[in-house]
Amino acid sequence: MTLQSLEFLEDAKKLVRSSTSEQIAKRVTDLVRRNDSWRNKMCVNLHAAESAISPLASAMLHSDLERRAITGEIGSRHLNGAEYCDEVEAIAIELSKKVFGCNFAELRASSTSVADGIAIHSLTNVGDTIFALEEPRGHQSWRSDGYAGMRGLRILDIPFDSDEWNVDIERLSDLVRTSPKSKLFIVGTHTFLFPHPLREISKLARESNAQVWYDGAHVLGLIAGGRFQKPLHEGANLLGGTGSKTLSGPPGGILLYDEQELDKKIKKAFSGHVASYGNSRIASLAVTLLEWIEFGASYADQIIRNAKALAKELDLEGLDVAARNKGYTESHTVILGVKGLGGGLAALEELEKANIICSAIRLLSPTEPWEGLRLGVTEMTRYGMKEPEMKQIAHCMREVLVERAEPGKVGREISELRSQFTEVGFCFSST
Ligand SMILES: Cc1ncc(COP(=O)(O)O)c(C=O)c1O
Repeated sequence: MTLQSLEFLEDAKKLVRSSTSEQIAKRVTDLVRRNDSWRNKMCVNLHAAESAISPLASAMLHSDLERRAITGEIGSRHLNGAEYCDEVEAIAIELSKKVFGCNFAELRASSTSVADGIAIHSLTNVGDTIFALEEPRGHQSWRSDGYAGMRGLRILDIPFDSDEWNVDIERLSDLVRTSPKSKLFIVGTHTFLFPHPLREISKLARESNAQVWYDGAHVLGLIAGGRFQKPLHEGANLLGGTGSKTLSGPPGGILLYDEQELDKKIKKAFSGHVASYGNSRIASLAVTLLEWIEFGASYADQIIRNAKALAKELDLEGLDVAARNKGYTESHTVILGVKGLGGGLAALEELEKANIICSAIRLLSPTEPWEGLRLGVTEMTRYGMKEPEMKQIAHCMREVLVERAEPGKVGREISELRSQFTEVGFCFSST
């Protein structure tokens, strides 16, 4: 395996030109099976946006509901056959309200980016001015390349302090005073190490009559487990999230909020963004939320303990771990600076050969070559890894990135470690 996928595009052209349908189908199924066994039996998966879904939540995902086109919403569908689906969805909505302590839950957006589009449409009018967390910390779905740009919004940057790894509240406060009135403040990031100073941000927003949207895509599981922050109790009007990532369930967007007026706007915006929405996802999410109710606090605790342990061990191994002065992290994420080690993309390539999976990030500027690595421990935690395994992983990463050891040799050690952790935990048995 290499990251150089361009040759696959050429190979695929040749394959499709010169093979029978049966041969191509065999190739596709073979590739899927090889991926299954490589990623699930041999790799240590440290991609911060990934996790392991439980067997029961996975079974719901692959039920009959997977291929139904039950559109609309409970109580106003223009089709029949939705009797069981409606009850499942009603339960999922109630569970969401219970887990996140809110009045409304919109679970139907098929991805978080789509949910972000719905949120932008519900919270702004064309041409409004908004404050949004600056890039590269702010997510592109609500910046100028995404829905905010498409809506013609004027975007003012919420400054980020890269020493503190958090919103720079003092600079934001100055900016709010000297800038045109803004309709909305958007915070939250895909590199969330520490809770945001959300009460202060919300206070600034209220002073300008603006609403606050907290993008909790990455940390929704930690919020569900009661171990990060409580955005809706700290002043956010809208908490957005993802069913996968730390929540460790099916992919899909989640919007959580308290106000009836916002509910009306979200429901109105919804129909233009999504028609059929994957009804099996909602059943799978219901199971996932029940797992958070039963096992969430201990799962979230172990995720955070593992992230801290991985960061500390990487630091002891001589790697450049972000936010050292702040205890590295209070989430599932660890950030490494790898500029001096050839950069993020080169690091990814070597780590992949050693069966270690993660992603590159831009550390300081939206235009830099990728100088950071983002690591997340959610998936390996769900498979039962703890602090001693984090130490071993950190050592393997040093061998690959610093010692330039033969990655295949390290890969064998990683696969041996991984083969001891194959059962998903913090969940019900699948019967
Ligand atoms: C903070 C944040 N918001 C939104 C998204 C969009 O999520 P999705 O990939 O489900 O569209 C992501 C995805 O990485 C994210 O990290």
